[in-house]
Amino acid sequence: MLDKKNILIGVTGGIAAYKVVEVASLLKKSGANVKIMMTKHATEFVSPRTFQEITNNAVSVEMFGDAANFHVAHIGLANFADLILIAPATANFLAKMAHGIADDLLTTTILAFDGKILVAPSMNTKMYENPATQANLSVLKARGVQILEPNVGILACGTVGKGRLPEPTEICAQIEKFFAQDKILAGKKVVVTAGGTIEAIDPVRYIGNRSSGRMGYEIAKSAVNAGAEVVLVSGNSNLEPPNGLKKFFKVESALEMREKVLNEFETADCVIMSAAVADYRVKTPAAQKIKKSAENLTLELVKNPDILKELGALKKNQILVGFAAETQNILEYARKKLVEKNLNFIVANDVTAEGAGFAVKTNIASIIWRNGEVENFSKMTKADLAEKIVLRVSIILNQ
Ligand code: CTP
Repeated sequence: MLDKKNILIGVTGGIAAYKVVEVASLLKKSGANVKIMMTKHATEFVSPRTFQEITNNAVSVEMFGDAANFHVAHIGLANFADLILIAPATANFLAKMAHGIADDLLTTTILAFDGKILVAPSMNTKMYENPATQANLSVLKARGVQILEPNVGILACGTVGKGRLPEPTEICAQIEKFFAQDKILAGKKVVVTAGGTIEAIDPVRYIGNRSSGRMGYEIAKSAVNAGAEVVLVSGNSNLEPPNGLKKFFKVESALEMREKVLNEFETADCVIMSAAVADYRVKTPAAQKIKKSAENLTLELVKNPDILKELGALKKNQILVGFAAETQNILEYARKKLVEKNLNFIVANDVTAEGAGFAVKTNIASIIWRNGEVENFSKMTKADLAEKIVLRVSIILNQ
């Protein structure tokens, strides 16, 4: 199940560290390549040698000195891992993670790691419920770290409450689920549009919009990670296209975007239109730069085709997802677009809300379904919202 997955377990200084020996053993039996990194305090509870015997790999503790296989240990181990599990995660360690403190090998490795992190907190109930710990957990969650809630039970301090490290089998099941979700779009072709279109006025000027392309690029990245064959059609954006795309088209105008999307549509399983397509274009862009002369200049605009509406009329089995970037009456306008464009669901947001909209990395969105159901999400990163969208597409496609 975990064949050849590289899992780095960070063990921090809690009594539950002894249970993690079993976790390492189970992961190894599932086919994973497991490496262990311990904080100094963790070595007070379990000897590095125990982990070394179980994993068949050297155990790293010191920032300078061990981890002989790597020139720069924290970078080497961060590059190695497909997933980092922190178990048990003490309150102190969560606080350090939440604040980006890097004062030992494990905290430094986490800062150098941009992949999946699963954290299993374990501590006394009062420490767990302390607002400081809860705030740190919220910060980590908002950054995409997955938190494995502690169980309720008898704790090492003799009290009964929430704070017990989940059983090794539960932790391993969670890790398997984590990886199983990975390729939920394997064999599917997903076309994503992103960014704003540019409508030429003359060879120098254009009409554009504030879209950064971030939401669409995150969706493309998330779909690639989910194993899909992804075609990204991007309007104006300064972002680097994600790795692993099947095709990447950079276009300018709505008409160019339409052509690329239509070419890909027949063989697509899903189209996610997150691009901010200009509704109008200049009827006749000037062939030469317009020189200033008259006091007033009038541009005649003509309507652009509505790409998504066209797809909605053409669609056979394709899943269609639209966006509704609104400034008022969000749900009402979004519902109308959902029906008019024949979409499976629409992602609506108020672009004027703080933490949502164009240049920011977060979004506050709702997903509206054809049966009238509405999912309201709190503020989250565009990367997290992208994962939610991709997960929903996969659920429809795998029905
Ligand atoms: N869209 C499109 N082609 C257009 C305009 C929009 O494919 N010419 C797509 C967008 O990518 C988005 C959805 O339609 O997924 C909604 O776009 P939006 O501009 O918010 O809605 P409009 O239908 O253009 O309505 P209005 O501008 O009146 O809000």
